[in-house]
Formats: sequence, C-alpha cells, structure tokens
Amino acid sequence: MAKVYVTRRERFNAAHKLWNPQWSEEKNVEMFGKCANENWHGHNYELFVTVKGQPDPDTGCIIDLKLLSLMLKDKVVDKLDHKNLNLDVPFMEGKMASTENLAVGIWHEIESQIRSQGCELHAVRVHETENNYAEYFGE
Ligand code: NI
Repeated sequence: MAKVYVTRRERFNAAHKLWNPQWSEEKNVEMFGKCANENWHGHNYELFVTVKGQPDPDTGCIIDLKLLSLMLKDKVVDKLDHKNLNLDVPFMEGKMASTENLAVGIWHEIESQIRSQGCELHAVRVHETENNYAEYFGE
C-alpha cells in the first residue's frame, strides 16, 4: 500500500527572548543577537505539520484535514498565538524559547492526537523567519 505524506500549515505570532541567565549580557548578545533583546520581540511563525499514512479507499485521503486543522488550532495555535513563549506557554516552561525547542514541544502536544486519527506524525517544522526553520522527526 502506498504511504503518502500530507502537510498542513498553520501560522501564529508570538513574542520571545533568547537569554541564558547563567551567562553575561555580552555572551547572550553575542550568541543570540537581536533575539536577546531585553524587552522581548516578536516573530511571525509558520508551522508545518507532516503526517504519514495510507489513503483510505473511501476518501482517497490519509487524514481529514479539517479535523487536523481544528486539532492544531486547539492544541497548538491557541496556546501560542499572541503569547509570550517564555512566560505564557505551559509546554515551553523551563526551556529556552528557541525554534528547535518549539518544534519538539509541539510534537509532544500533538503526537497522540495524530495517532488517534489513524495517522503517524512524520515531522514538525517551525519557521521563525523567512530564512530560518527547525524540524523535528521525533528522534
Ligand atoms: Ni527571536
């Protein structure tokens, strides 16, 4: 049976700051640049969730994209959109608010939900800017 990968995109806007409190200000600014700005800053994030499965003979689809989108809104977008990733998001608590950690955190928020819709989660990709993104494959 053919395995097919399907991707849904969602968008959210959020604030964050990358700052390691163990380090000096100079070291933080050197490492994180503008993302170390003291009074926060925002990004227009894009999230790409890729699921893997076999097309259902009755629908030709591997997943109901309306249900996937609703689930992503409920489990991810509503928790992140117009929030401060350092302060407002339970699944990011105690972690650096990096794109990498965001991808891992989102994976854990949705993996069991994807499975309950009869699919496998393949990848979570988070774009922080036009030029930078992080991907997590559950490894
Ligand atoms: Ni930033």
